[in-house]
Parts: sequence; C-alpha cells; structure tokens
Amino acid sequence: MGAGFINNVHADVLMREDGVRITAVVDPDVERAATLAAKTGAAVMPSLEALLESGVDAVYIATPNALHAQAALAALAAGVHVFAEKPMATTLADARRVRQAASSARGVYQMGFNRRFAPIYRLLKELIQKGELTPHWAHLKMNRGELHSPPWVADAAVSGGFLYETTIHLLDMSRWLFGEVREVMCRAAQSCYNQLDDFAMLISFASGATATLCSSAHATWLFPFERVEVFGDHATAVTEEMERLTYCSGLGRAAVTHDQAQLPMPARWGYVEEDRLFLAAITGGGQPAVSAEDGYRAVELVEACYRAARTAEPVPLPLE
Ligand SMILES: NC(=O)c1ccc[n+]([C@@H]2O[C@H](COP(=O)([O-])OP(=O)(O)OC[C@H]3O[C@@H](n4cnc5c(N)ncnc54)[C@H](O)[C@@H]3O)[C@@H](O)[C@H]2O)c1
Repeated sequence: MGAGFINNVHADVLMREDGVRITAVVDPDVERAATLAAKTGAAVMPSLEALLESGVDAVYIATPNALHAQAALAALAAGVHVFAEKPMATTLADARRVRQAASSARGVYQMGFNRRFAPIYRLLKELIQKGELTPHWAHLKMNRGELHSPPWVADAAVSGGFLYETTIHLLDMSRWLFGEVREVMCRAAQSCYNQLDDFAMLISFASGATATLCSSAHATWLFPFERVEVFGDHATAVTEEMERLTYCSGLGRAAVTHDQAQLPMPARWGYVEEDRLFLAAITGGGQPAVSAEDGYRAVELVEACYRAARTAEPVPLPLE
C-alpha cells in the first residue's frame, strides 16, 4: 500500500528474497502504482479492501503518515501480516487502537524502525550490551534538509508534524539504546514552515542516563544530518549518519573507526535486515523484530515532546 519512495526500496529488497512474490499494489497515483506493478509483476488494485481480499499474506503500509493506523487496523482485522512504516499512528488514541489490535491479531505486526538494523547502530548497541560503554550521558541530533519532498511532509495534518515524520526515528533509537524514558522537557519553535520545525529536548531515562536531542527541519542535508554521541566512564562513541562509528575506550587510548560507507544503502540503512526479520517472523511464527509496543512507545514519546513544548513543563512518562 503506497507505491512511493520507501515501498520501492522494500520491493527491491523483497524481490531478492526466496519465497516472496509481490502480487498487489494500491496507490491513488496511477502512474506510480503502474510503475511499481510493472517492476514487481504485481496487479494494480483499486483499494486496500480489494488488496486484502486478493489473498495476500502480508501488506507493507507506506502511505503518508495519517493513513497508517486505519490501514493497519483493516489489515490486522483481515488476518493479514503487517509491516507498517513509521509512525504507527499520528495520535496516541490511534496508536493505542493499533497496539490493542496487534496484541490479539492472527498476523504479525512489525514497525519500520529501520535504524535499529543499520550495522552502525548495531555496533553501538553491542558496545552498550557488552558493557564496554555504559551510557551515562548522550547527545543526539536528527536534522532534515527540508520539508519539500515528498510534498505532504510540509502538511502537519498529514504527517502528524515534524517529530512524527523524522525525529521519531531517534526518539525510538534513544529508547532502544538507553531504556525506558521517565521524563521529557522540550523547547520548540516555528522558524521556516507552517508547523513547529525546531526542537531541543532533554530526555531522562529510568536507568539514570540523560540525553539531549536537537532536531531541525530546515538544516540542509549537510553531512552528517544525524548523529549520536554516547558518553560512558571515560569512553565515548560517536556515529555519523549510518556510515561511521568512532569509539574511544579510555583516556590515552587510540580511537577506532568502523566505516560502513561502502555498503549499499538498503543494507547500510537497515532495510534489508528488517525485511528479512519480518519474513522470518511470518514464516517461523516468531515475534516481530520491532513490536507494536515499540511503535506505541515512540508515538507516546512524540506526544510527550509536543506537550512539553506547549506547556514549557517537564512531562513524565508513561502518558495516561
Ligand atoms: N523508515 C524509513 O527510513 C522511511 C523512509 C522514507 C519514508 N518512510 C515512511 O514511509 C511512508 C511513505 O513515505 P515515502 O517517502 O515513500 O512517501 P511517498 O510520497 O514517496 O510515497 C507515498 C505514496 O503513498 C501514496 N498514497 C497516498 N494515499 C494513499 C492511499 N490511500 N492508498 C495507497 N497509497 C496512497 C502516494 O500516492 C504515494 O505514492 C511515510 O509514512 C514515511 O514516514 C520511512
């Protein structure tokens, strides 16, 4: 569902996997639907309902954000496995509905937080899991060059807002790396677009760690537009997008850089691995690699940040 940029990436990955056939495409943009259908050998369907009735096992939902929740609910109700691009929903109430539906569904529901499977972020997670880097403090940045392309991202009614569209990736990343969030504080401004487009957040974790996260929607695509810096006990790891991780394990020690820049984009950004894990969860009857609970918690974090920006007060989590 959706024959735009990201479903073309998923289709390219899936076409290389054994046992997968892409059979149906739905998109109101007939040219895009026809192009993806021709590339994959699929039939163009007039609606999601028709696609679900055509006997598919799984659906990839990659429409503009505000449409994700209803589509996921329909697919789960039809007993179809769902891979949903982020965000799970653009309101907390809808996210709750999807989480509830996923918990009792016959099908697997997996969220598209691809960064968790990018080799650079996996290395960072490994350093933390092995105890080589205990995250006491962290500094994250998630910028975007513009809100021009695709055009719907400029419309907060369709995207949910900049935090839903872009920053949600690193909000999820912070929870994945440092654990559950206890409180967020946030300053935000409307600088260049018709929505809040500059954010400075202070995030406190149950572990005792603290992170700052700055996110601007109008920063140009100057490299690296995305960066995570983690500070341990006289040890630091720094990432540059999904290309490099540099790690220094102690005072007076040489820093080591892992460079993944040569990997093709779908592998470097984690799309190949997340798609494989989705297929494995479907065929093996296992758990999704990124769960509905993860999708819900990310929406909750976004909502907490917007609330903290609006009220200029710290917002404790979980939200009720
Ligand atoms: N995980 C990631 O790294 C990543 C990257 C890009 C996009 N995304 C997410 O994927 C989604 C799609 O983003 P994109 O960049 O591919 O956007 P896009 O605009 O390129 O594609 C979206 C497509 O959905 C179609 N569409 C609109 N209404 C529809 C409907 N009712 N039924 C079926 N199709 C419909 C549009 O015509 C368009 O072709 C967004 O939610 C975005 O946040 C995730």
